[in-house]
Amino acid sequence: MRISEVKSTTREQRIASHTHIKGLGLRDDGRAHAQADGFVGQDSAREACGILVDLIKSKKMAGRALLLTGAPGTGKTAIALAISQELGPKVPFCPMVGSEVYSSEVKKTEVLMENFRRAIGLRIKETKEVYEGEVTELTPEEIENPLGGYGKTLAHVIIGLKTVKGTKQLKLDPSIFESIQKERVTVGDVIYVEANTGAVKRVGRSDAYATEFDLEAEEYVPLPKGEVHKKKEVVQDVSLHDLDIANARPQGGQDIMSMMGQLMKPKKTEITDKLRKEINKVVNKYIDQGIAELVPGVLFIDEVHLLDIECFTYLNKALESPISPIVIFATNRGMCQIRGTEDIIAPHGIPIDLLDRILIIRTLPYTQEDIKAIVQIRAKIEGLTLTDDVLNDMAVTGEKTSLRYVIQLLTPASILARTHGREQILLEDIKEVDELFYDAKASALTLTKYHSSYVP
Ligand SMILES: Nc1ncnc2c1ncn2[C@@H]1O[C@H](COP(=O)(O)OP(=O)(O)OP(=O)(O)O)[C@@H](O)[C@H]1O
Ligand SMILES: [Mg+2]
Repeated sequence: MRISEVKSTTREQRIASHTHIKGLGLRDDGRAHAQADGFVGQDSAREACGILVDLIKSKKMAGRALLLTGAPGTGKTAIALAISQELGPKVPFCPMVGSEVYSSEVKKTEVLMENFRRAIGLRIKETKEVYEGEVTELTPEEIENPLGGYGKTLAHVIIGLKTVKGTKQLKLDPSIFESIQKERVTVGDVIYVEANTGAVKRVGRSDAYATEFDLEAEEYVPLPKGEVHKKKEVVQDVSLHDLDIANARPQGGQDIMSMMGQLMKPKKTEITDKLRKEINKVVNKYIDQGIAELVPGVLFIDEVHLLDIECFTYLNKALESPISPIVIFATNRGMCQIRGTEDIIAPHGIPIDLLDRILIIRTLPYTQEDIKAIVQIRAKIEGLTLTDDVLNDMAVTGEKTSLRYVIQLLTPASILARTHGREQILLEDIKEVDELFYDAKASALTLTKYHSSYVP
């Protein structure tokens, strides 16, 4: 038997430009602080999202959808990420961009379906029979290879486990030794071995060893109480997609397999509709029995106008499902053609029937004061210093062009300042980069002026 942890397949977030956003910055009464958690201004949008977060936490929002609209650079993506921060790490948050559905390998609806399932969490509480304790000895015992030949093979492993109450010596199968090695268990670690499956889990380092010289970040845990052999409540947070993967490729995810396996025979397959249906069935059974709890999370679809009519039809249906996450869309488009149709113009490029079931939050353009405050936050994060006249100038430029444009000027301006042997960014640096680069509006203007000299 092979054992390994179910790795959560949560995706890395593309948030380098949003690292300063730590939450929605709301007071306890739900009103927005003028500036908090890295957020400045945009008060009503933030307050509306605060209500949404409460609804999600009290599980009253499943299957609903929200649309963030507003001009480019008004903080739509930032607000969505702030919502995910407010929800905390236990609530799944799956970000994607509309264009991700276009792959030559996978169907569009398949991509959507997968992300829907990434956004639905399941908290499983199981009482397991385990052997738990601090490892006092770890001795693999070898014998002559029974099939002849020269090598020796592993017969079994002797492992000593200690708790406050006593110690126990276990003789384990070689296959379990593999998972002990995978978890990098050494003498002095606190581990538990599941009695039924042999799955090994390293809890941490025993705090008796806390004084040893250690450069790595270690988690020290106390010596377990009670007997070595006992029943233990184990809580796991996984997404439905994690379950899909674990069951499609049974060599991964023994922990979940131990429970899923009791009800269905997993085979090595791809993730299919049939497999998902079966998993849903098992999940529903576990929810009914009170072993598992559904945690609907958030699916965030940025640049939603990039989806086409086929995807929208699918979304309409998916939102009706009893197990559906909250979906947050964002777009900066006004009236535009729905992709995949010949001539249907709709607000935000979203079909009216879908739009009809969505709550809409608008983000407004920033004032110069807001822009100043945001630029200052970004400068601090990037370790840059600016003079006051730089800030004022950027606020004026930002109002004319966009917040994103001025934020993007920061890094080149700092490079320029450094080549001049300065640490501080002066007005002349900003002026110079502003001349070197075009913002979107200026570029569009140039194009209309000189359009004859470009290739049509
Ligand atoms: N109110 C705010 N407070 C602090 N930072 C902000 C705020 N609004 C936007 N920002 C920052 O400004 C930059 C641009 O904002 P963002 O990417 O969220 O805009 P957007 O509305 O998603 O634009 P687009 O429509 O082009 O996708 C980001 O770095 C974001 O973190
Ligand atoms: Mg955006």
